[in-house]
Amino acid sequence: MGSSRTPVSLRDTLSKSSTTRKQLLSLNIDLLRNLVFFLFLIRITRKTFYQLRGRGLLGSFFDLYKSLERFSYRLFFSLPFVRAKLATQVNASLTELQAKLVPSGPGIVRHTSLPTEGWTREKVEEELGKMEEMEHTRWEDGRVSGAVYHGAKEMGEVWTRAFGGSAVSNPIHPDVFPGVRKMEAEVVAMVLSLFNAPEDAAGVSTSGGTESILMACLSARERGRIERGIREPEMIIPSTAHAAFQKASQYFKIKLHQVACPAPSYRASIHAISRLINPNTILLVGSAPNFPHGIIDDISALSRLALRHKIPLHVDCCLGSFLMPCLSKAGFDSEPFDFRLKGVTSISVDTHKYGFAPKGNSTVLYRTKKLRSYQYFISPAWSGGVYASPSMAGSRPGALIAGCWASLMRVGEAGYIDACHKIVGAAKTIESAIREDDALNADLRVIGRPMVSVVAFASDTLSIYDVADGMSAKGWHLNSLQDPPAVHVAVTLPIVPVTEDLLADLRIVVGEVREMEVKRLAEGKKAGAERQRGSASALYGVAGSLPDKSVVEDLARGFLDCLYVA
Ligand SMILES: *Cc1c(COP(=O)(O)O)cnc(C)c1O
Ligand SMILES: *[C@@H]1O[C@H](CO)[C@@H](O)[C@H](O)[C@H]1NC(C)=O
Ligand SMILES: *[C@@H]1O[C@H](CO)[C@@H](O)[C@H](O)[C@H]1NC(C)=O
Repeated sequence: MGSSRTPVSLRDTLSKSSTTRKQLLSLNIDLLRNLVFFLFLIRITRKTFYQLRGRGLLGSFFDLYKSLERFSYRLFFSLPFVRAKLATQVNASLTELQAKLVPSGPGIVRHTSLPTEGWTREKVEEELGKMEEMEHTRWEDGRVSGAVYHGAKEMGEVWTRAFGGSAVSNPIHPDVFPGVRKMEAEVVAMVLSLFNAPEDAAGVSTSGGTESILMACLSARERGRIERGIREPEMIIPSTAHAAFQKASQYFKIKLHQVACPAPSYRASIHAISRLINPNTILLVGSAPNFPHGIIDDISALSRLALRHKIPLHVDCCLGSFLMPCLSKAGFDSEPFDFRLKGVTSISVDTHKYGFAPKGNSTVLYRTKKLRSYQYFISPAWSGGVYASPSMAGSRPGALIAGCWASLMRVGEAGYIDACHKIVGAAKTIESAIREDDALNADLRVIGRPMVSVVAFASDTLSIYDVADGMSAKGWHLNSLQDPPAVHVAVTLPIVPVTEDLLADLRIVVGEVREMEVKRLAEGKKAGAERQRGSASALYGVAGSLPDKSVVEDLARGFLDCLYVA
């Protein structure tokens, strides 16, 4: 009988142990659940804490209010009858745009498939000539803000000579094209020395300012991930920083904080930036100067902030390019902006702006070689062979390297100082005319204190977009800005000799717009509703003032489509 008890007690213990196992298991699950919940709670608390510290209670409410407002507008715009009406209006604007951009008519021949037999050389050259001479806004006569930075015939010939000699080259094969490798390395070295780079500094050349900025953001994100284990990267930029930073945020999944640049200085608020810094911050940004207003952010203060928090700081000197380093040598006021500020870790410099190199050329500089290596792409096991490239592109045009190198050597330090003298001098002439000339200063005011080549102005009495449209009608292409509504001129060498003409036309246009405004007020508001609008006024005046940007997005998408209508 004794033996018969054993199985019972065995079963007993077995069943007992299985209940304890069950209990243990449920305990573990409970513990796990609590742990997960706890972690979730920490995460939410942390996020809320950084949101509240970054934007403040009022700021957070304001953000919430703004997104609710946007949401309700979007809802309204998606109502069927509203949507249909908007679609016809967008379509009408785009049809008009297309008529302007894409030539049509009986005389126009379209080439949408390959010619069966190749053309003769003469025929190719003749047709090239026709394309070059299509009717356009006259940059040759200094009518275009920005866009063409040098424009002299002689510089064009230097480029053409350089292109011709390196037309087939590609720096991806340094052994096949050793001259191109040498020139590329020398271009980067020259720009580094211009920006007072320290011993260990290094750089890379890219296809333009946008790629330089993308690379600097990527490098900072990788540094954060590898050295700090940051998985949810964030960066803080002035609201006036170039759109390329928004592109970087979208492409590389970096959360973006945009900081206000309040009047009267229109520089990024250092206080607002410092509040937004948290353990996920991978990059601070300042512009020297920014595109909209030509204002230099307080780079010294940003540098101190970056050092204190041990965060990289990028200085966007794409526009400033070769003007910034020449300012004091050309006799103008300047401010610290380069590697002499210890907190500055990277700088983007467009050789294709005031470096006078052909388009498709920029550099990004880093304080250390290690920072540069974070932007490298390496695929050690690719079936096509070990693959490594320094930036976004694979194959690159060696001809542009030669063009860039030749421009830098042709102009030289004295040439850049002289160009700086002319360009910044012309910008100062425009600035003081707007501030001091009675025909202008009654209606226009300069934004902030521009120190380089861009002068932006706004109006408290007139629609500044009507002024922009008036200038367009006189053949000038100025840039329209928003938030706040303004217009700017980016002075380049072709504009220097026609500065007084520009001011003379600006006086006339301001007078006309003022008269129009007076007449409109006299005729009452009803007449105002039916006014003729120019393109700047239509885009920024009506669509731009709505909180929901879907109409503007539709227009912009249509514009991009339009570029590819053959
Ligand atoms: C032009 C510019 C850039 C870069 O533009 P790209 O057209 O890509 O060369 C970046 N920042 C500023 C301030 C600029 O003016
Ligand atoms: C506008 O609408 C017409 C008719 O629906 C269409 O054929 C045309 O392509 C549209 N235009 C644009 C620019 O979208
Ligand atoms: C721009 O110039 C640099 C040399 O500074 C060169 O490496 C690069 O290939 C050029 N163009 C492009 C599209 O990258």
